[in-house]
Amino acid sequence: MINYTEKIPNNVDLGRDRVLQRALEHWQPAYMGWWYDMGPNESHNYEVYLRTATSVEPDGWAQFGYVKMPDYRWGIFLQPRDEKREVNFGAHQGQPAWQEVPGEYRSTLRRIIVTQGDTEPASVEQQRMLGASCPSMYDLRNIFQVNVEEGRHLWAMVYLLHRYFGRDGREEAESLLARRSGDTDNPRILGAFNEPTPDWLAFYMFTFFTDRDGKFQLCALAESGFDPLSRTCRFMLTEEAHHMFVGETGVGRIIQRTCEVMKEHKVDDPSDVRALGVIDLQTIQKYLNFHYSVTLDLYGSDVSSNAANYFTNGLKGRFRETKLEDDHILSEVEYPVYEVVGEKIVAKKVPALTALNERLRDDYIDEIADGVARWQRVIDATGIPFRFTLPHKGFHREIGNFAGHFITPGGEVLSEETWKKRESEWLPTPQDHAFVQSLMTGRVVEPGKFANWIAPPARGINNQPLNFEYVRFN
Ligand SMILES: [Fe+2]
Ligand SMILES: [Fe+2]
Repeated sequence: MINYTEKIPNNVDLGRDRVLQRALEHWQPAYMGWWYDMGPNESHNYEVYLRTATSVEPDGWAQFGYVKMPDYRWGIFLQPRDEKREVNFGAHQGQPAWQEVPGEYRSTLRRIIVTQGDTEPASVEQQRMLGASCPSMYDLRNIFQVNVEEGRHLWAMVYLLHRYFGRDGREEAESLLARRSGDTDNPRILGAFNEPTPDWLAFYMFTFFTDRDGKFQLCALAESGFDPLSRTCRFMLTEEAHHMFVGETGVGRIIQRTCEVMKEHKVDDPSDVRALGVIDLQTIQKYLNFHYSVTLDLYGSDVSSNAANYFTNGLKGRFRETKLEDDHILSEVEYPVYEVVGEKIVAKKVPALTALNERLRDDYIDEIADGVARWQRVIDATGIPFRFTLPHKGFHREIGNFAGHFITPGGEVLSEETWKKRESEWLPTPQDHAFVQSLMTGRVVEPGKFANWIAPPARGINNQPLNFEYVRFN
């Protein structure tokens, strides 16, 4: 159970470690300062129908009620400890899971935790202006729920830094509040987290694609031999599921609305579709191409000695490591990666240990393909003959073997000049962004009402009706 009587809610018996408690209570006002500055714009007085964790058990953790976001009980929640847990892969396989940081892996683990932690406030910063153009009160509540949970994910990583990394950890925790998404002098660490999220289509795409990267990174860290990191990530994953739900259903509802309008008015030319105030499917495909490719870069280089070391040292596992049936050491096996040779993309087998980034990226791609297939079914159900395609994984990449090459969504290698000429067919242009944003100039917040460009969801939050007052503006 979570103790909510303390200043910092927690299930780690924080009160027993005075020094740690004081350090975190010192960080808390700095966090609140960051939230007031960089959290959702002009939202501090709103009462939002939010869920709050009451326990870390899988069945009973959510409680719903109106909360002003600055009063949200951000805290420290870890999945309970399994006394028998072991390091399940790499050179330390079979040892009891570590309860303290092994000295030789200290700086590596700190870097892993900081890199994960940095993404959490970044996405809040990226999304902070979207409340002003929300398509409904339901959606406004959902973005706020995502935002407060990303704030809690920051707390999750900051707890680890404070508890296990001493002064270095405290300094890193401060830096996490100092960097800013998109800032030229002090940007966030990873590329996709410095891209703007300028409109709601981008927001839903981000929560579908980029929060899912979060899921896969957390799944890999949930396998870590460093037990507190594992237990932290396991609880974060329960929150992440909701973010991806928001993204998948958000894009799905936009597709549905577009298709309904196309059917009703018997139009299929994108400019006719746009004239009816909905987003043409071609533009949705371009957003998909952008968010997919930018997110694929987050997995890092296809061949990486860092990834191999993380694994061999027991710090970061594979997706569903303990469900995989092999030796969990990977010294003998190979894995295919791709590279560009002349005008061709060729497969090349490399030691599996060095290809773990690529493998995690491939696991992610499988799940993405399933989600895109579900969007396709929304179109198919209306009988409209449009097909979404997932671009080739070399398309529009800036990291790894494909960086510096100019590859079409179909997987063709072009010259830079030819590729640039056709870029506007594949990626959103300034005109596309301007059009999407022209639909989102004001917010729709009358209970039960939805903007013209999106269909209502199948059901409300926590069994509430669609016209429930999800946000009170005061
Ligand atoms: Fe997160
Ligand atoms: Fe998330």
